[in-house]
Parts: sequence; structure tokens; C-alpha cells
Amino acid sequence: MRGVTPRLMAGACGMATTKEKSMAQVAFAEEAKLRPDVMLAKPVWLDPAFEDPDAVVDLVRASAPYPLSARVHKRDDNGQDVPFFRIFWAHTRQVRVPGAEPYFYNERFMEAAKESFGATVIIPSAIMINISTPTIGGPPHRDLPYFRGAEKFPFWLLKCMGNSDLFHPWAVPIASTLSWFYRGEAGDFEYWPEGPDAPSKLVQAPLWNVGIVSDNEYMWHRVGAVGPEAERKQPGEITREVRLHASDDGGWEMHDQGKVEKFPADKARISILWKAYAFADEAAEAEYRNHENDLNPRLVAEIFRKDLDRQGIAAPASDDPVTDPAWKTTIQKNYEPKFQLQNEATYKY
Ligand SMILES: [Fe+2]
Repeated sequence: MRGVTPRLMAGACGMATTKEKSMAQVAFAEEAKLRPDVMLAKPVWLDPAFEDPDAVVDLVRASAPYPLSARVHKRDDNGQDVPFFRIFWAHTRQVRVPGAEPYFYNERFMEAAKESFGATVIIPSAIMINISTPTIGGPPHRDLPYFRGAEKFPFWLLKCMGNSDLFHPWAVPIASTLSWFYRGEAGDFEYWPEGPDAPSKLVQAPLWNVGIVSDNEYMWHRVGAVGPEAERKQPGEITREVRLHASDDGGWEMHDQGKVEKFPADKARISILWKAYAFADEAAEAEYRNHENDLNPRLVAEIFRKDLDRQGIAAPASDDPVTDPAWKTTIQKNYEPKFQLQNEATYKY
């Protein structure tokens, strides 16, 4: 239901207590959901993805050097990085790299997102370029969720919030378009459109200027191992400081603390990930924009604490659940991904 306002329950003295306020906020969020808890959006194919693929690849190369995705997202450095590079052409609804405008506002992506999500209002939010050189595969995961009021939360917290399944009432529907430029070995995109208990599907190279719109915050998916088996880097063979440069011969060069390693173009798997808010209608968009239903760190901590209490797990007291190390350790330990591959070693997401 839309247009509802939170009704705060009165405490004994006529003022709502903190606990009552948070109960009312949870109830309101449940009532004003912008999307269902289970995946509803259907994958939609895009072939071709871009009108001028050569121009896209030119801009991908012109955007080098690329830092590691782990560095961009300030992930904890546990010495287990793999060569998965990323830069943003656009984020927080703004183009950051000149020349990326036609790709950010790609009509094909917008139309496919409408079809996939049954949406009428599509607002592009980000576009990022991912490049992998040969490496072991990644784990099944769902992308970092978008929650109302949580845009500035750190990576670890958003990841645990997603894993917990406790925050669906605040989830914002996001259409993801993945498109690929890769003619090398392996580098499959594997996804589970019917959930992790049903068989997965594979998108396999060669992949050039094709894509898929999907519900990556809710649909489990992963990137398989990239490149020839003997050449795949294991976690920890590179440092957090590594950069991927475009070389003059059309290939790529990995620069890591003075060491340079060369890769021909077909050893670098390029994927372009576009994200957009996908609202059913203008009323849903307005509801998102009015911020009445936002999360805040205190409410997030209360929801986690209640869930931990239910499981008989003691959570440490915390004044700041975003930065408190003891709180972070407890949450990370108890909210691991619920789906993991049993038959293949992968790097950690
Ligand atoms: Fe992903």
C-alpha cells in the first residue's frame, strides 16, 4: 500500500519509546514495500547490447588504468585478492567519465529493464566496467543490495544485511544489465534463475556485445574461472596495489609493485554492469524519494540484535554499529552467504 505514514505507538508517558518506534518503523516498512521478497524479475536477453561496440571497447581501454574492485570498495585486505578490476563510469546517478553518457542512458537497457521488472520508471544509477585476467572462479552471490537510507553503509554491512534476508521491506528494486566482451577461454556467467535448489544456467564465451537484464540483488549468480587453467591466478598472488593498464599493442598489462605482466586482449574478460532503479510507477518512485521509510544504523542494529536474540546469540553492546569492530565481527560471523558451492574452490566475494 502506498501513501501510508508511520504510526508511532505511544508509550506509558505518551511518548513512543525507542523500541516502540522501531517496531512501528518495521511495520511501516513492511506495508510500504517497493518489491517482493522473492525474485520476480525475469532475465531478458540483449543482442546486441550496444549500437557501436567498438566505441564501447575504446572507452573501456581509454579508462585504464584499472584498480582492483576490492580497492574501489575498500574491502578488508586479507591478502587474498584476485585480479578482478573495476572502475565506475557512473555512480550515484551521475556520469563520472566523459563519453559514457550514451551507455548510461542506453535506450535498449532502459526498455529491457522495464520488460524484466514490469516497471514504468527506470532511473539509471550506476555503470561499472569489470575486467578479469585469468583467475579462479568467484562464489555464487547476490549483488550488494540497495536499501532505502543505506546508500553510505560500508561494504561489509550491506553484504551481511543482504545475506541476512532481514531487510527486504527496505529493498529498492534494481535492474542489472550485464554485457560482455570476451572471446577467451572459460569465463562463464552462471546464474540460478529458479533459486539455488534448482539447476543453474550458463552463459559461455565467446561473448561479444551481448547482455542480460536480471535481478542480481535477488538472483544468485557468479563468474566462473577465467582463462586457461594453468594461467589462473590464485588468491593472494597479487597485491591490493595492482593496476591494469591498456598496452599499445591492444592488450593489457598488469603492474604490481614494479612487476609487469602482459596479457593479449583475449585473456581479459570485460563485463559492463549497468544498474538502474526500476519502479513500478511514479507513486513508487515518489515513495522512495520522500525518505519516510529509510533505514538508519540504530534500526539496523536493533533488527540484527532481535534476530540474534531469537537464535540465543549474545551480541555486544555498541554505540556505533557501522564502525564498532566487536559488533562487526559478530555480524560477519553470523551472516555468511546461505549458498556456497561444494565442488569448486572459489575466491571470496
Ligand atoms: Fe554480481
